[in-house]
Amino acid sequence: MAVNFKHDGGFFAPMRFEAQIEDCEVEGEIPADIRGTFYRSAADRRFPPLFANDTPYNSDGAIDMFRIYDGNVDFRSRYVRTARYDAERKAHKALFGLYRNPLTSDPSVRNVSHNTANTTPIVHGGRLFCMKEESPPTAVNPHTLETIGEWDFDGAMKATSFTAHPKQDPVTGEMIAFAYEAKGLCSDDLAVFIFDREGKLTKEMWFKTPIVSMMHDMVITDKHIILPTTAMVTSKERLDRGELHWAYDEDAPTYVAIIPRDGDASDIRWFKGSTDQHMVVHTTNARTEGNKIIMDAPVAGGNFHPYFPKLDGSFSDPADYVPTLRRWTFDLEADNDTWEEEILFDGIKVTTFVRMDDRYLTKPFRYSFMLMNDPSLPVAEAFADTLAVRVSNAIYRFDHDTGKIDKFYAGDSHGMSEPQFIPRSANAPEGDGYIIAAVNNFREMKSEVVIVDAMDFAAGAIARIKMPFRLHMQVHGYWASAEHLPF
Ligand SMILES: [Fe+2]
Repeated sequence: MAVNFKHDGGFFAPMRFEAQIEDCEVEGEIPADIRGTFYRSAADRRFPPLFANDTPYNSDGAIDMFRIYDGNVDFRSRYVRTARYDAERKAHKALFGLYRNPLTSDPSVRNVSHNTANTTPIVHGGRLFCMKEESPPTAVNPHTLETIGEWDFDGAMKATSFTAHPKQDPVTGEMIAFAYEAKGLCSDDLAVFIFDREGKLTKEMWFKTPIVSMMHDMVITDKHIILPTTAMVTSKERLDRGELHWAYDEDAPTYVAIIPRDGDASDIRWFKGSTDQHMVVHTTNARTEGNKIIMDAPVAGGNFHPYFPKLDGSFSDPADYVPTLRRWTFDLEADNDTWEEEILFDGIKVTTFVRMDDRYLTKPFRYSFMLMNDPSLPVAEAFADTLAVRVSNAIYRFDHDTGKIDKFYAGDSHGMSEPQFIPRSANAPEGDGYIIAAVNNFREMKSEVVIVDAMDFAAGAIARIKMPFRLHMQVHGYWASAEHLPF
């Protein structure tokens, strides 16, 4: 059954205002060792869509910031002033059509950037970028949230698209990114980019993909770049028919590209997996050990996106999508193109939102922080059918060494957003720090941001930043420490 994204109203309804609060109300006490900025990207459609079957991924981008210092919090929220925002503001109505199909847009804007900048905030080289995978990053002032504009890295980045999930190497400070459909809609061009600590492009490699599919996330090791495809496919014919960009292909195999960081385009190696592995929306971590590459990610064989139909136009049963946390081990010496799979965690739906202590990206690591839908936790009956509560009512800390789970649960009418990890100090051991996450309370229709001791979930939230209104629906977040981004 198709899900009309307006059905939920509530927290999915457009916020349609921008806000600034100095000295937010805080329940509990924010530890003095938390100093930095929590950014959230949100999808918040300002005008009713042109088509009822459009997806929330096609909503206007907004960016929120919570600046935390000395136990205080200042909040600011702005829409990202994309070319699309400006055009629709001028027309006072929606002009842009179905998700990533400009042929369905009003003729007056078909050649205007369709970028919504609504997916991921990331700070690199002192700049804040709001990312959307169909377009180049949008630079936004990290202190005022004023939009600067689409960013091509001083003219160096030539792709027409750019992943919303670049990875920052905690050792070298480099940012590694990729672009698919990199030479325009439906093109089979794939590009990989390496930027130095300041954001200067130092390397690019261009490839062809075996299928044109959504490639939402990537993962890196100290030696390799790993890029999985998914079963969300597209074609020029779909766009010509006036359809949504993506359709779910039940028969699509999984391809995984592995590229040496110090190699060139001829060194790419494609591995091929089964239809039970073809939805890798987000990844957790990876490392290279000798000739092996070990990668962890939530993986499923069903359709995660309820808004996108199958190739035949019918819709998947959401029950078919049961992701599990899996470990894939690729042997670069083996004489085949497959890999070993181990299920690390199953029995309950893992959402695709899994985060970790980012200082351990590329390295052996112990803890995953997973946004979960846990039906064993109480949900008030009045909110049992509310989408956001159903899909995310808890954060789990998964200990990879022991298999132990610790749960943080925010309340029986509360939906949670992707958590971010804050180290207690730059040199604190892995996992020693805090979890910060936005929480939507459907009973009060207000939001809060919780701070939890990452090693003591049982103690509950040690601080709650209480908002006097509801926040936009978050997509992804980012923590920028004051050392990484001074203010
Ligand atoms: Fe994502």
